[in-house]
Amino acid sequence: MKIEDIELLEKLDKTYFWHPFTQMKLYEEEGGIIFEKGEGIYLYDVYGNKYIDAISSLWCNIHGHNHPRLNKALIDQLQKVAHTTTLGNSNIPAILLAKKLVDITPSCLQRIFYSEDGAEAMEIAIKLSYHYFKNLGEERPYFISFEGAYHGDTLGSVSVGSVSLFHDTYKPLLFKTYKLPSPYFFTKSHKQEELLDMLEKLLKDIKDKTSAIVMESGMQAASGFLTYPKGFMKNVYEIAKHYGILFIADEVATGFGRTGTMFYIEQESICPDLMAIGKGLSGGYLPLAATITTKEIYDAFLDKYEEFKHFFHGHTYTGNNLACAVALDNINIFEDEKILEHLRPKIEYLHNRLKAFNELNNVKEIRKLGFMVAIELAKDKKIPYEPKERIGFKVSNIAKRHGIFTRPLGNNIILVLPLSISKEEIDIVLDVIFKSIKTIGEGI
Ligand SMILES: Cc1ncc(COP(=O)(O)O)c(C=O)c1O
Repeated sequence: MKIEDIELLEKLDKTYFWHPFTQMKLYEEEGGIIFEKGEGIYLYDVYGNKYIDAISSLWCNIHGHNHPRLNKALIDQLQKVAHTTTLGNSNIPAILLAKKLVDITPSCLQRIFYSEDGAEAMEIAIKLSYHYFKNLGEERPYFISFEGAYHGDTLGSVSVGSVSLFHDTYKPLLFKTYKLPSPYFFTKSHKQEELLDMLEKLLKDIKDKTSAIVMESGMQAASGFLTYPKGFMKNVYEIAKHYGILFIADEVATGFGRTGTMFYIEQESICPDLMAIGKGLSGGYLPLAATITTKEIYDAFLDKYEEFKHFFHGHTYTGNNLACAVALDNINIFEDEKILEHLRPKIEYLHNRLKAFNELNNVKEIRKLGFMVAIELAKDKKIPYEPKERIGFKVSNIAKRHGIFTRPLGNNIILVLPLSISKEEIDIVLDVIFKSIKTIGEGI
């Protein structure tokens, strides 16, 4: 691109575009990368700089950018029709994708309700749970979730979430939920059984008014990849079952191979009543999410039209043809190219190489689950950096200058690598991130 065109774009960006989760005062001063194109694991900005996309474009890209097969799936569908409504009607890719999702998820999950983003998939899970009991003649307005949870930024998903930085402002607008301590922090000083006891105690009081327990699968992702103690999620699930409460698993971040299996719940042998998926569903191509549920929940919505038990929810683009077509091929690639099999040795390699980061005096902890990694930084391994130090951004900015694109979560450097990355490319990412953290630690 010509330099005048780039400068104009930068000016327009800072003048008209309000960016998500971004302090715009700073953005107007510093700007961000303006991406122009992608190829495999690489992204290119308008200046022609090349970066490895080390956060898979906010954890959604799977097989790489500009993927020939996904491009073809999209173009083939585009030449037929881009969008048709699914309110009382259907379309071919949405039907085929629904069947495919039922095939690849645990057997109790039988019905797909589409949406566009993870937050909406969670809204739907919440509304379906409440409405399910309502259709059975029960009033159950309560939900139980965990401090530190992030389920999206719409008001329903914020109500079951608890990341004070993002959520406190909106407290007066939220519906009441019961929050248990974050499993990660609680079990640093207590046994997980104590937390499970707290849950049981709470349920003894409110079980008849509670619709569901809501839980991120495997880890509290947006809070900094706060992993759960082994078996904790399964134990919570079993308590939910014991007390006749629904269990909602949020697989928005962890789904589609990120943790080494297609969905994390497979590692815990859980079949939730409702599961939210998003992000990787369309391979990082288009906004598509889904809530998957059981026949039992679905059946509770079946009745004569005039009983009005149906689920009054749906958006203009629900089950969009293009998004479903590309998602279907995204899953087919997993199967045809044995992606999960090839991923296993790469996960092992990544985890082994990460051990060296413990040598750095400003690395406090490395949390990892499959291909999801958070490197928490702290001065002398224990004193947290102040928010005004923007340490995560400082490290990311150095990495960016050396061709690695990542976005931190507070003091955590985040790596969510595309599944298609090679071992040699993992080396490149880790070498740059290591040097960037070291540079900051040495106060350079
Ligand atoms: C576990 C989890 N649930 C839900 C969401 C919300 O997804 P979206 O940003 O697509 O609305 C996220 C986003 O990071 C997430 O990590």
